[in-house]
Amino acid sequence: MKKANFITALFLLFCGMLSAQTIRVSTSKTDLVLRVGGDGRLHQSYLGARLGGDADFAHLSEGPEAYITHGMEDYFEPALEIRQPDGRSSILLKYVEHSVNTLSEGVKETVITLADEVYPVTVRLRFTAYERDNIIRASTEISNTGRGRKAPTMTLCRYASSMLHFAGGDYRLTEFSGDWAEEAKMTTVPLTFGKKVLDTKLGTRANMFTPPMFIVSFDGQADEHTGTALLGTLGWTGNFRFTFEVTQTGELRVISGINPYYSERALRPGDTFVTPDFIFTLSTTGLGDASRDIHRWARDYQLYQGHEERYTLLNNWEATYFSFDEERLIQLMDNAADMGVDLFLLDDGWFGNKYPRSSDRQGLGDWEETREKLPGGVARLTQAAGEKGIRFGIWVEPEMVNPKSELYEKHPDWVIHQPDVRDEYYFRNQLVLDLSNPAVQDYVFSVIDRLMTDYPDIAFMKWDCNSPITNIWSPYLKEKQTQLYVDYVHGLYSVLERINAKYPALRMMLCSGGSGRIDYKALSYFTEFWASDNTNPIDRLFIQYGYSFFYPSRAVCAHVTSWNRNASIKFRTDVASMGKLGFDIRFNELDERDQEYIREAVKNWKRLSYVIADGDQYRLYSPYDGPHAATQFVSPRDGKSVLFAFDVHPMAYDRTRPLRLEGLDPDADYRVEEINLVPGTRSSLRANGQTFSGRYLMTVGLDVFTSGNLRSRVVEITKQ
Ligand code: GLA
Repeated sequence: MKKANFITALFLLFCGMLSAQTIRVSTSKTDLVLRVGGDGRLHQSYLGARLGGDADFAHLSEGPEAYITHGMEDYFEPALEIRQPDGRSSILLKYVEHSVNTLSEGVKETVITLADEVYPVTVRLRFTAYERDNIIRASTEISNTGRGRKAPTMTLCRYASSMLHFAGGDYRLTEFSGDWAEEAKMTTVPLTFGKKVLDTKLGTRANMFTPPMFIVSFDGQADEHTGTALLGTLGWTGNFRFTFEVTQTGELRVISGINPYYSERALRPGDTFVTPDFIFTLSTTGLGDASRDIHRWARDYQLYQGHEERYTLLNNWEATYFSFDEERLIQLMDNAADMGVDLFLLDDGWFGNKYPRSSDRQGLGDWEETREKLPGGVARLTQAAGEKGIRFGIWVEPEMVNPKSELYEKHPDWVIHQPDVRDEYYFRNQLVLDLSNPAVQDYVFSVIDRLMTDYPDIAFMKWDCNSPITNIWSPYLKEKQTQLYVDYVHGLYSVLERINAKYPALRMMLCSGGSGRIDYKALSYFTEFWASDNTNPIDRLFIQYGYSFFYPSRAVCAHVTSWNRNASIKFRTDVASMGKLGFDIRFNELDERDQEYIREAVKNWKRLSYVIADGDQYRLYSPYDGPHAATQFVSPRDGKSVLFAFDVHPMAYDRTRPLRLEGLDPDADYRVEEINLVPGTRSSLRANGQTFSGRYLMTVGLDVFTSGNLRSRVVEITKQ
């Protein structure tokens, strides 16, 4: 071989080795670079803003082991722990191979296979990168590849979806915590040496105290426009755990996945356990871009019916609670039609005959219409809705049972409880059915199937889940009790898959005493979620703001109710109009002016829902910065924008400043017009009716705030 050819061959060999051993998972803005080290193990060389390519990668150091296993040389929290039948539990994973597949335009999947050379364990790390939206989904598949009679059954003890490493210094964690009626409260804490864990052990109503989402800012706190931040969320409708650990060298490790608490499970020869997806974005341009990327990704790839029209609705829960009959519901449907909403939603209290559901103490589980209340059944209600030109929706809570119910009498073995050794503990007077049991899964599916078969005109369901799992014991799982938390969620998914497959047009709201159970896997079955039972518009400004970091407004149900009557109907409606608009009020008891206001606001929401539900969202003024709040939406379709501005409790001489808009075309002109005006009043907005350049609106801004209390303004900004 000539010298030149030999050098070329060597060069090609080197490039081949480089590309085989350096694995790049990239989006338009981010690179995750993994590398097979000299030790044969997989290392994370880099995670950050997108680099140039192979030449840049060559300068990167090997970095820490990517997916750290228990029992080897690392001294901190591992991502994976597997126990062999003889009690040994160290796993050492070496790189085997990897593949890259294009799933659709701009969506690439990278699968890296690792294996232990001693035990028959294979681990596949799967990364799906969404180029345009700068989103990466990470999950792990853990297989017992043992074969033959002597192959061991292992125990999976910890099985994280993802482990990410960051080298930096000044880390800040923003968490979202709360309780019933005070969801998604944001707090930021520094992360210093040691561990901070966000987790939940509630089972069904898993997120009652914290949803599976977080923000980590690097090098100081990121704001809407500047700073580097990781926004992460787990697609798992059960117990989760995020561990943030800073080592002695200042490295931050983020481990995300199912909470290993009481969740060991057998991995038999041939078994593969697939973890849920950890979904993340890394932004170097602040939190606003990050949220808009997540929203766009969610609408395009994750939300059930992510682009279809959402139904505005009237719900009867707060208007009637359990006291209603057919006539009262039909009157409410008249109200719904008069308001101009799309749908009437019948809430709790319509079922049970031996134990009618006249309060939350009985009847749950007996999904037959209460004859006395509803002599014509649901059929009469869907028919009445049809006659009034609106759709009909219904509340269900099919995973739960009141002890005082026929279902409990018939099937005590379907319930999670320990009747022989402990008194039953009731959360909201109810117990959780054992969805790890296929017979119970069939039953839960049959509740929906029966309703949809008998009443095919049902267009919508509100699926509730009010109790966490307590007194944990599954009569079905017997000696495999530690599988219950996980098997329950798999059981739930299998029911939801059957429902979506058989009734694809059915839209469902996910509720759990407010938002005690939301995540992106659940939202692949549900079109939307109930953000909180707290509908006080002031509190809602905070709750909706919190959720806006991860969820697009089309998914966030917001209803106008009677909470906080000091706030006008306009203020309450304007707050709810930033989400998926609904009502839960006695419309006929409002004065004519408020009624007229609502009709107009509903019309406007529907007309502008392509901007609010599908547009890009800009958080212009945080309620946490009070005394004002403002959010703007911009449609990529035609550049139309809608601005919501609120004065909550300014001081009498509050010196308001103009509010700078965002997302406009600087060189285009925009006409500014205040809408949602109280009938009979005129806009006091100085800019009303005038035209401005986008540059002016984004540089100087609009004087939308006032020093009034509980005032609101909705401004439509139309590209000329
Ligand atoms: C939960 C929900 C409410 C309502 C009631 C009905 O608390 O969050 O919106 O549906 O149940 O019992």
